[in-house]
Order: sequence, then C-alpha cells, then structure tokens
Amino acid sequence: MLKKIPTKDLTVGMFVADVGRSWLNHPWKTKSKLLTDYNEIRELLEFGIKEVVIDTDKAQEPKAPEASAAQAAPAVPQRPKPAQASQDLSAAPRPPLGRTSPVRPAQTAPEPVTELEMELPKAVRAYNKALDTSKALVAACRMNKKIEVKAVQENVDELVDSVSRNRDALMALMKLRRFDDYTYTHSLNVSVLAISAGKSLGLSDEDLRALGLGTMFHDLGKTRIPPHILNKPGKLSDDEFAIMRNHAALSGEIIQEQKLQVEEIVFKIARHHHERIDGSGYPDHIQGGAIPDLVTICGMSDVYDALTSDRVYHKGRSPHEALKFIYSLRGTHFQEEWVDRFVQSVGIYPPGTIVQLSSDQIAVVMEINQAALHAPRVKTIADPNGMIYSRPKLLNLSDAKEAAGIVIKKVIPKDEAGFDPAYYFNPPK
Ligand SMILES: [Fe+2]
Ligand SMILES: [Fe+2]
Repeated sequence: MLKKIPTKDLTVGMFVADVGRSWLNHPWKTKSKLLTDYNEIRELLEFGIKEVVIDTDKAQEPKAPEASAAQAAPAVPQRPKPAQASQDLSAAPRPPLGRTSPVRPAQTAPEPVTELEMELPKAVRAYNKALDTSKALVAACRMNKKIEVKAVQENVDELVDSVSRNRDALMALMKLRRFDDYTYTHSLNVSVLAISAGKSLGLSDEDLRALGLGTMFHDLGKTRIPPHILNKPGKLSDDEFAIMRNHAALSGEIIQEQKLQVEEIVFKIARHHHERIDGSGYPDHIQGGAIPDLVTICGMSDVYDALTSDRVYHKGRSPHEALKFIYSLRGTHFQEEWVDRFVQSVGIYPPGTIVQLSSDQIAVVMEINQAALHAPRVKTIADPNGMIYSRPKLLNLSDAKEAAGIVIKKVIPKDEAGFDPAYYFNPPK
C-alpha cells in the first residue's frame, strides 16, 4: 500500500516508492529504494525533502534498531569490523576511485565540533535566505517590479557576519552545494567570494556591505538579455556577443531606473565588473587605477565562479586551474597586487577539496591556512590501502609536528572520488 509520510519518520527497512522530486533534485539515482542505511534518510533531509511516498508491501524488517533519522543519523555503525582491522578502520575497503555512487563514511562516534562546524548551521541559514533573495531579485527584474534593497542588504549583512566569524564556512558551503540553478547561485557565490576575499584583504565592514550588495546586483542586466543568447551552449556570434556584453551596462541601468538608494560604488560594481586595466573590458573601456578596488574584487570573483561552476554544457574547472587562469591575467586584466591578494585569500585548496596526501591517505580540505596555502587543515578519511576511517581525523598540514612531513600530493576531482565531501562537514540536518 502506498502511503505519504514525513521523511523524518522514515526508518531503515522501509521501501521508499517516490521521493517526489525530479532526479536532479534528490540525492539518489532512482526515485525508489529499500532503505538499508540511515545515511540515506539523512541525505533526503539534507536535500530538504520533507515528505516521501512509501510502499508498505515492499518493506522489510529493519536490521538496525528502529529510530527516527534525526535521532539515529549521527552515529550508526554501518559495516561490521574485520578481526584484522585496526581500531581506526572500518571493515569496508574504500571503493576504488572512479566509482560514481557515493560512499558513506562509517560512523561510530561523534567527532569533536570545530569552530567551522559551529558556524556551518548559521552559514546554511544565511546562504539559503540569500539564495531566496537572489531568486526574488531576478524575478523582480524580469517583471519590472521594484527591488527591495533593504531586504537584500539585510541578507548581505548576514553573509558579512558569517564570514567575520569564520570565513571558511560559507566558502565550503558554496563549494559543496549541488544542483542549484546557476542563474541564482552565481551572483550569490560571487558575493560570498568577494566578501570573503575582501575580509581577508582588510576591508572595513562598510566596504564589505557595499561589495556584497554590488555583487548581488552585478549581473541583473542579464535578465534583459534574450534567453536564446544567454543560454546558448555554443560559441556566440559577434552580434550575439555584443548583445551579451551589454548586460553590464544594463545592470547599472536597472539600478538607475529603479532609483535604488544605494552607494555609488554599488552602481559602479554593477556597471564596471567587466572592465579590465588594459582597457579591453566593457562597457566604458576604463583603464588601470580608474577601476575601483571593489570593482576589481568583484571582477576576479566573477571570473573565478564562472570558471569553477558546473554548467549544463560544460564541467567547471578545478580551483587550481581557475586561479592559474586568473594569474595569467595578472597585469593585463587585473592589477598584479590584487591578483596576488585574491589567490592568497581564496586559497589553492578551498574547503571541500578532495586531496591525496604524500602518505597516500585521502583527505578533505576543511579550512585554508592563509599563511601557508599549500598546507591547509584537512580531515583524513581513508588510509593508504583505501580503508575508510571510522573516525576521520583532523590534520593541520601547516603544523610541522602534527603533519610530520606529510604534504598534499594531488587533487582528486569530486566525480572521480566516489564520495561526497559534504559528509565530512557534518552539515546540519
Ligand atoms: Fe557579468
Ligand atoms: Fe557574473
């Protein structure tokens, strides 16, 4: 019998007949499955799926004690331990890199909560709220409705506050989020990146607030670009490109038309975020020092997010590659000093990056260390033989004693890793 129930009431052994979402918006490859693991329930909750349809005829006796997902998810052992396994290892070998289904880490005990993990729930709330605001902004522009500056500024202030408490939480969240529409997430991600970079560059709160607002508005002009040009997967023709480039001027025009009560720099960020110091940018071809610093920060954040984002028609580049590209624009598109500072701020291994260490352990970058970009704070999750640790350990690679000579050997692309690094941030339920 089919029955709709709240996701939080699911237990292992129930058969989920329909998660009620398209495949892009839920964590599984199929819409139906027999629940064998509490992490599967946690995945649904993390995706915001509040109700599911179960088929009671296909349910099986749960092997784990019955409990709601919210109660049981943090510490349910998933795999038996082999006699020869060391204390720190679970029984299951880590599936080879390259598998596509997510690996769920075995969990035996709660890990100590870090400063980053303390901030994550607040960062999630601020991010989700700002994402709704970003959607509302685009909708208002499309329908020629008045933009509520106050609401946007309030959201931006929350982002600034979160970055002030812990700059890595929002950055990690930005990297770990999946399946959101680029139209809405891009402006928000540029805002998070710019605020985060601005914070580490020592900008005042006032500047950060203006930077956050300007970046949220920077691409509003795209709402006036015909969709067939805006979403064209292939190369744009010269005429199409000219229309597309006009979006920056249009972003400024929207602010002026609506007579928005914002500082002048907010308007400049919107109009000039594609200007480049050699005059090759648009719409006004302004050069060098005539481009304000906040506009430059928006410009670099914009390029970085555009390069690293997955789109329907292409896969995003790694942070490494994106920073290398921005570095190649040093002195031509962006001032040298600002490029250096931006790279320093974003870090070459942003939080959420999966890496292989020189010890051959697999680790997830948790927090960057701005004094030593090559040596972030990581969480080791699998041993050199591919065995997943039941209790992942924090390792500060910039602490000589703790790291004991271990360095990052290489970055492992997320789609090759076979697991979702989000699990290791203990995202709030
Ligand atoms: Fe733009
Ligand atoms: Fe943009």
